[in-house]
Amino acid sequence: MKIAVIGTGYVGLVTAAGLAEFGHAVVGADKAADKIERIARGELPIYEPGLEELLKSNLKRGNLTFSEDLDKTIRASDVIFVCVGTPQGEDGSADMSQIEEVSRQIAENLNGYKVVVEKSTVPVKTSSWIKRTITLYKKSDIHFDIASNPEFLREGSAVPDFLRPDRIIIGVETERARDILVKIYENAKDRLLITNIDTAELIKHASNSFLAMKISYINLMANLCEKTEADIEQVAKGMGLDPRIGNLFLKAGLGFGGSCFPKDLKALIKIGEDLGVDMSLLKETDRINAERSKLFLEKIKKALWILKDKKIAILGLAFKPDTDDIREAPSIKLIANLLNEGAVLRLYDPKAQNNMKELYPEDKTRIQYCRTPYKAANGANALLLCTEWKEFIDLDLKKVKNLMDNPIIVDGRNIFNPAEVRKIGFEYYSIGRN
Ligand code: UGA
Repeated sequence: MKIAVIGTGYVGLVTAAGLAEFGHAVVGADKAADKIERIARGELPIYEPGLEELLKSNLKRGNLTFSEDLDKTIRASDVIFVCVGTPQGEDGSADMSQIEEVSRQIAENLNGYKVVVEKSTVPVKTSSWIKRTITLYKKSDIHFDIASNPEFLREGSAVPDFLRPDRIIIGVETERARDILVKIYENAKDRLLITNIDTAELIKHASNSFLAMKISYINLMANLCEKTEADIEQVAKGMGLDPRIGNLFLKAGLGFGGSCFPKDLKALIKIGEDLGVDMSLLKETDRINAERSKLFLEKIKKALWILKDKKIAILGLAFKPDTDDIREAPSIKLIANLLNEGAVLRLYDPKAQNNMKELYPEDKTRIQYCRTPYKAANGANALLLCTEWKEFIDLDLKKVKNLMDNPIIVDGRNIFNPAEVRKIGFEYYSIGRN
């Protein structure tokens, strides 16, 4: 079976390398020739633990190749995974133009039976559109099938998520397509859930929105904790001991960011509203999340009062640890708010600095990127924590305190134990704890 993976973003790269690791012959294709050239040399455009090794070993084995020739790749394949981007459009809905473009290209190159598998996160009913587009543009009466196989990769742990998944959702409408996909995922056959296509598409959106809702819920509880003597970490622990609730995704903080939750939540709200369903539960989830940065700024003001010309160190720019991705990262809004108040910023992140520099270039007076967290802390009036990188959990806090002008920490991820940090001599503010 020859597999094509179209699109070499996060999902496409992990899918191509992962399917090759399962032993399939895979071609990763992307129209961006320069990107393909670099990937084919084993150079990754993103930072993802374990991906470079997986890519290199499969390139070496010869079962993974890359091509910028989409037409040829489509013609040579039996199964095509569509992994192109579905960015957020202006009205909150997903922009499906890349999916449409690839569908037309598949139609034009349909030279035999193929299964077209959509893997990008898409609104329910997208497969029907792909099917209709291919049917409209194909030049012969050659048969094809469509399928939905949503991905559940988390950035930072995408490789193990792909190789050892909790579940593989396969949405199909024919037995032929079903048998092919079951064969592709033969080594995880105990974790397959086979559904119709609309169901598979909805499972993906429903899962992400549910997790986002869990985060907004715990953040709402954190707001309550701050007005009482309750401690959010203990509340989350107590809730999580109930197996019906579970202890994951109950970490209060700056809210959710990334390329998935914010976008998928808005897209599901739009889909529901377009279909006439009241989506207010999810709208509140989104609103609570949007408020997190405002509440965090209030905390910083509570500590420093006037922010103008205050030297503020920010540790953590990525939307979560173990990635260089800053898409929808809470740090972006925070930086904008602090600059707006006239603060002087010292920024540090182990992996995401270069990406942030594109958004906020270094500027001698207001924004400086530092080589270590200690350099960022040097002379600072306050230290803010925005991402729970392990490196920050392991910081030598005594050293940090001695370097700072004012030993104040505002911790947006509840990384430290309040009593311990205060014992060292810090004034410490965190989320939902006193
Ligand atoms: C998320 C899902 O977890 C994946 O299952 C899904 O495949 C992926 O989106 C996608 O749709 O492609 P990801 O965005 O990589 O994965 O990251 P998460 O680990 O889910 O974190 C998302 C955000 O929620 C981060 O900003 C994180 O800091 C925040 N978060 C997470 C919290 O604030 N509290 C928590 O308890 C957990």
